[in-house]
Amino acid sequence: MPETDATSNDFASTSLARAAEVPVPEADAIAGRFPLTANPSPVAEDERAVVLANLHFGDYFTDHMAHARWTEAEGWGDYGVVPYGNLSLSPATAVLHYGQEIFEGIKAYRHDDGSVWTFRPRYNAARFNASARRMALPGLVEEDFVASLVDLVRADVAWVPSGQGESLYLRPFAFASEAFLGVRPSKIVDYYVIASPSGSYFSNGLEPISIWVSTEYHRAGRGGTGAAKTGGNYASSLLPQREAYAQGCDQVCFLDDVLQENLEELGGMNIMVVDADGTVRTPRLTGTILEGSTRSAIIRMLRDSGRTVIEDTISLAELLAGIESGCVSEIFACGTAAVVVPLGRLKGEGFDVRIEGNEVTRHIHDRLTSIQAGRAEDPYGWMYQLVSPRS
Ligand SMILES: Cc1ncc(COP(=O)(O)O)c(C=O)c1O
Repeated sequence: MPETDATSNDFASTSLARAAEVPVPEADAIAGRFPLTANPSPVAEDERAVVLANLHFGDYFTDHMAHARWTEAEGWGDYGVVPYGNLSLSPATAVLHYGQEIFEGIKAYRHDDGSVWTFRPRYNAARFNASARRMALPGLVEEDFVASLVDLVRADVAWVPSGQGESLYLRPFAFASEAFLGVRPSKIVDYYVIASPSGSYFSNGLEPISIWVSTEYHRAGRGGTGAAKTGGNYASSLLPQREAYAQGCDQVCFLDDVLQENLEELGGMNIMVVDADGTVRTPRLTGTILEGSTRSAIIRMLRDSGRTVIEDTISLAELLAGIESGCVSEIFACGTAAVVVPLGRLKGEGFDVRIEGNEVTRHIHDRLTSIQAGRAEDPYGWMYQLVSPRS
């Protein structure tokens, strides 16, 4: 379980944040661990140009995928970057029955000089391994996780878009691929990384989103898998997400499952509250919340700029009272996909309130996206170069 110093303003280091600080060797030094078997029929250049000119999220995939296989007897092997294509699985494949799987989400950004970078890959590598541990899956050597991103992005570099807010979304995942119906950890596991060019989350500026606060459903429980990035957490959020849409809201926010009164997170983003006195608060990591890389980076940036950031319990009742009294001035969500999004409306059983402010949210959004796009200095060494500038 992640440990944090809940209320101090010192940088509350967690094991993931500490892991992310360990330098990864330069991409050239680890490239080639996943040797390329080139796709004999890649998407034609003009077709790719049409895709890149009209980007959404998760609709199109590049010409290749990284792959490795683990067996109980041999460990990890079969590293490669291979042509993207369908998988052939036995109907008895364990993941289809018991959901033993994990995944990650990380982006590759093209900078103005043509180079391609990613953000804190070692954080995702460490979280992948933390998720693997919880789901009784084998972890990967962190450098190999990063090497799989390097080799895939180098193979498909033509797919990395260059428009503002655009990126190549990378989706590493691993699943129980043994064909058997017993309930036990799989003795065969497959790891893949697929890549999808994605557009800016916002079509015009920082659009606030509306939130349905679910009191009927919870995303995670104590001792469960909430802190792991595993498919079941997302499957269980789909019904409450549908409820959110029916309530006219964009996303669902979950409360804790014990007292059913404290904020946890959205289905795919962490949540932060900005008080009128400038303090930023976020739910502390209890083991039921996914420890976001974006959350961790924002806490670090804000504390270093002298702002008080508190990781603590935030009750819904206290939040609603704060919005009404004016003590709470902004609420925002954060995660890799959208980076930072203001929450403009909170709705739930018996309340429907608006939040107008977004000044601090906008500042954080601009600072983080400028670092990611290579337009601002990166004082933390968060950016990792996958592909060097075009010569
Ligand atoms: C449930 C959940 N919470 C939070 C996050 C934000 O994490 P990150 O900032 O690492 O993308 C994500 C996205 O990965 C998520 O799925």
